[in-house]
Amino acid sequence: MPELIPIIKKDTIDRKVDEIARRISNDYKDSELILVGILKGAFVFMSDLMRRLTIPVQIDFICASSYGSGTSTSGNIKLTKELGIDIHNKRVLIVEDIIDTGLTLAYLIEYLRSFGPKSIAVCTMLDKRERRRTDIKIDYSCFVVEEGFLVGYGLDYAENYRNLPEIYHLKL
Ligand code: IMP
Ligand code: MG
Repeated sequence: MPELIPIIKKDTIDRKVDEIARRISNDYKDSELILVGILKGAFVFMSDLMRRLTIPVQIDFICASSYGSGTSTSGNIKLTKELGIDIHNKRVLIVEDIIDTGLTLAYLIEYLRSFGPKSIAVCTMLDKRERRRTDIKIDYSCFVVEEGFLVGYGLDYAENYRNLPEIYHLKL
């Protein structure tokens, strides 16, 4: 049986999302902001984050997959849901659940850049550094974790555990 070890508690998540939302609201107070969430993992974080923003925002989602049912990225990224709104000349904030190798994000930044936005920044719930293979700038990150495979708060292992309200280390 896989073992679930709690690593980030609900109230710690809540306090951090409050803080990041305040920073974003302040940084974008004079501009039109579009949040682009990466499905499926980011939807829980994005729904908490957007409801704490005190500025007007528009939202959209794109869906990328690369993992299949394993625990490491294949590097072979497939876009399974395209962007649905116009981001030309707009300021875009990508919302991710976790950045691991960074390959998914690097691919998605290029994809979004092709629509000619005014700016693109990145906000992630978790920044996992152990396997990073790209040099990407992360503008907002809630938690830095060094290693391990994490589930809960939107994060899955083979599509399970996304509904858990806290973040766990999954020991297989
Ligand atoms: P990357 O391309 O290696 O950065 O992988 C990014 C994507 O892989 C994330 O958006 C997640 O969907 C998934 N992922 C990476 N690490 C984990 C993890 O520890 N738990 C669950 N999903 C993960
Ligand atoms: Mg993801």
